[in-house]
Amino acid sequence: PRNAVRAESGELTIAGVGVGELAETFGTPLFVLDEDDFRSRCRDMMTAFGPYGRVHYASKAFLCSEVARWVDQEGLSLDVCSGGELAIALHAGFPAERIALHGNNKSLDELDAALEAGVGHIVLDSMMEIERLDRLAGERGVVADVLIRVTVGVEAHTHEFIATAHEDQKFGFALSGGVAMEAVRRVFATDNLRLVGLHSHIGSQIFDMDGFELAAHRVLGLLHDVVDEFGVDKTSQMSIVDLGGGLGISYLPDERPLSIADVAETLAAIVRRESEAVGLPMPTIAVEPGRAIAGPGTITLYRVGTIKDVELGGGSVRRYVSVDGGMSDNIRTVLYQAEYDVRLVSRVSDADPVVSRVVGKHCESGDIVIKDCWLPGDLEPGDLIAVAATGAYCYSMSSRYNMAMRPAVVAVADGTARVILRRETLDDYLRLEVS
Ligand code: LLP
Repeated sequence: PRNAVRAESGELTIAGVGVGELAETFGTPLFVLDEDDFRSRCRDMMTAFGPYGRVHYASKAFLCSEVARWVDQEGLSLDVCSGGELAIALHAGFPAERIALHGNNKSLDELDAALEAGVGHIVLDSMMEIERLDRLAGERGVVADVLIRVTVGVEAHTHEFIATAHEDQKFGFALSGGVAMEAVRRVFATDNLRLVGLHSHIGSQIFDMDGFELAAHRVLGLLHDVVDEFGVDKTSQMSIVDLGGGLGISYLPDERPLSIADVAETLAAIVRRESEAVGLPMPTIAVEPGRAIAGPGTITLYRVGTIKDVELGGGSVRRYVSVDGGMSDNIRTVLYQAEYDVRLVSRVSDADPVVSRVVGKHCESGDIVIKDCWLPGDLEPGDLIAVAATGAYCYSMSSRYNMAMRPAVVAVADGTARVILRRETLDDYLRLEVS
């Protein structure tokens, strides 16, 4: 909604700033983040889920100090899943008690850093970790609040690599075979851990409600089992039901995300009904959206470099449009066959569209940003094209392949732009060299 096209020139503006000016001032490739969009998605999440509990922004989608401050100001909590994410959050001044730590193989240093900072809770992922954290907390003389991550056996309809609750995978404690129940027993038996709830995350980029509902039912089913074995009093300390992230966003114009208000009400109704059924007070519902907050409001701005028409035989031609970034700033196309919308944004064109493939500048043929798209037939070097909805899992999964320098991230609001992460430079590389 805050994007507009200048009538005379056809140039795209974001929050009142023209893409030409952005490219001139900050260079390309460039991540352009609409601050109001990010913040309003935080607020929408708080409106939907706030009445039932809390919203943790999953910082793996995209994190820098400035974004951590926005998340804090909007009243959300924060999920981190590494010592690095924790360090950035603390550097930004994010209140430790609203941070949760995740991960299937947290190092002793990461666990200890979380205890030292005094994070709100730690999500346990393995039997070994129960022992480790109990020991570390004991050494520090503290009692750590923990959740148990439950693998609920739900097949989320998404790419295999980002579905996380089928049972044959690395995360969590399986419900089947009583593994999760055994984890509950072991945590209850420790001296230095306090079990404050259960966690489930079924995957990412999800468009149907069924998976979330089934997961909620199954997590609550485990809570029933805990009541059966330990009674209502003991079980009521498990006051958090965290249902993870995963809300899908529209990368292409015809994709229809779930209404977050519907998701919130549906999940709350299940949790309320099933906790009442066993006499437990209504738990706090937590959710952990990453993509749905960070994804939609960012574009990647590239400058077109070379254009090549490749004969495919039978008279057909594929146009390869090379841009100045690629798989180093957006690995999602190659890794998940993700699809994106791309537009010419620096000028208007009346030329007929041509089937095009947008590729990067890296040394492999799989370096594709957009596999098939229509771009104006008069596209030329120097034109700016923008890829939409690149705010989640693009910068955060970026690499230095071919010694690419990571792009800058610029936040735009009210007609002004400012760098929130500067572009990498050769000096950043040279700093790693030891001779
Ligand atoms: N909570 C947990 C425990 C997670 O593992 C994740 C994502 C989230 C929350 C946030 O999920 P979201 O709301 O963003 O869907 N790199 C992949 C996505 C991997 C997601 C990993 N975990 C991609 O680019 O699609």
